[in-house]
Amino acid sequence: MRTTDKIFVAGHRGLVGSALVRRLQADGFQNILTASRDELDLRNQAAVNDYFQRERPDIVFLAAGTVGGIMANSTRPAEFIYDNMLIHATVVHASYLSGVRKLLYLGSSCIYPRQAHQPIDEAQLLTGPLEPTNEWYAIAKISGIKLCQAYRQQYGCDFISAMPTNLYGPFDNFDLTSSHVVPALIRKFHDAKLAGATQVEIWGPDRRCANSSMSKIWPTPACS
Ligand SMILES: NC(=O)c1ccc[n+]([C@@H]2O[C@H](COP(=O)([O-])OP(=O)(O)OC[C@H]3O[C@@H](n4cnc5c(N)ncnc54)[C@H](OP(=O)(O)O)[C@@H]3O)[C@@H](O)[C@H]2O)c1
Repeated sequence: MRTTDKIFVAGHRGLVGSALVRRLQADGFQNILTASRDELDLRNQAAVNDYFQRERPDIVFLAAGTVGGIMANSTRPAEFIYDNMLIHATVVHASYLSGVRKLLYLGSSCIYPRQAHQPIDEAQLLTGPLEPTNEWYAIAKISGIKLCQAYRQQYGCDFISAMPTNLYGPFDNFDLTSSHVVPALIRKFHDAKLAGATQVEIWGPDRRCANSSMSKIWPTPACS
């Protein structure tokens, strides 16, 4: 990337997007494009096409999406699959139409099968059933990765994907109904310490029931 490149960071107010903007600015990139959800709903193909034709970014970081942990995935499956499939479809297609030089799409480690052996390698993609508690999100994420591969294969676009593991950091979401696992654990242990509690409730899939689509609430042993 050149410091003069016009760089669109989609999802710049989120955990990943805001960290990307801070890093790009620190590295001397000054031509950074951002648009809030109110200014540009990334699910709207016509609006996204207009934006890309007008702004003509050279580079795109696609860090926008509907994300969350077990609770959000379980209670809002339609939003997770619909929003995420639309967001990457619009941005990838508009990037192709407007001649974006490079696009980075962010996948997720949840794309790999529930029973993937550790450490997980790329070859395990699509080799087994997904974790049921986040399969809607995972299906959308897999389609985003395949979308980038398809545009690369058919049109020669330099669109790539990276699979972050569970992330946490400044400006994270600590809301227990919608946060990812690490910020949720930080919040729960912080609250427990402040309250002097002897137990913390951890959520996760019940590994004893291989075919269960239910998540199980696990009371952990007393924490010190
Ligand atoms: N956090 C993790 O642990 C983790 C792990 C693996 C992969 N990822 C991936 O990394 C990416 C970013 O995750 P994150 O944790 O940074 O999420 P986040 O903090 O929730 O941020 C998501 C961003 O997307 C924007 N957005 C959502 N829907 C939009 C829409 N329809 N139009 C325009 N903007 C929209 C949000 O805008 P508003 O600010 O307006 O809401 C927000 O800025 C996602 O693709 C996620 O799958 C995250």
